[in-house]
Amino acid sequence: MGVSAIIYLRGGFSIAAKDESQAFCGTTAEEAVIANNRGKELFSANCASCHSVSKELTGPALAGFEKRLPVTQLYLFIQHSKKAYRKSKYLARLKKEYDIEHFSFPSLTKADIDDIRQYINAASLPIP
Ligand code: HEC
Repeated sequence: MGVSAIIYLRGGFSIAAKDESQAFCGTTAEEAVIANNRGKELFSANCASCHSVSKELTGPALAGFEKRLPVTQLYLFIQHSKKAYRKSKYLARLKKEYDIEHFSFPSLTKADIDDIRQYINAASLPIP
């Protein structure tokens, strides 16, 4: 009860939104949705021109990318792709295969990249 009151005061959500957040156990679901929307926006603005989750475009389909690439390498790859090619054989091989040097996004923070990861993972889940 106390939690939904805080949400109400902070965000000025409508009664309907307040009820929905209660149904999903307080702030957790709300915060997940907010982070995910951020991830979606960042993905659309920076990545979607070359990547889809499920289809190969200019770049590989990203579903399951975390099984192929440890997160520390992902941060490096997104922020400074040149350095990542030197550290990761996997990425060096992909670069050869696609014959494209990946953009670097030095302005994306780890937190931004975490939001993008969360969005890709959520979008990769099979539709029930
Ligand atoms: C201009 C096109 C382009 C853009 C924009 C782009 N990528 Fe890529 N991406 C590629 C290509 C091509 C590869 C293949 C590897 C290479 O060329 O270095 C790749 C590879 C990857 C991989 C490794 C693939 C795998 O499945 O193992 C990840 C992860 C990735 N990109 C994430 C991103 C994210 C996140 C963004 C946005 C912040 C982004 N890319 C923006 C073209 C792009």
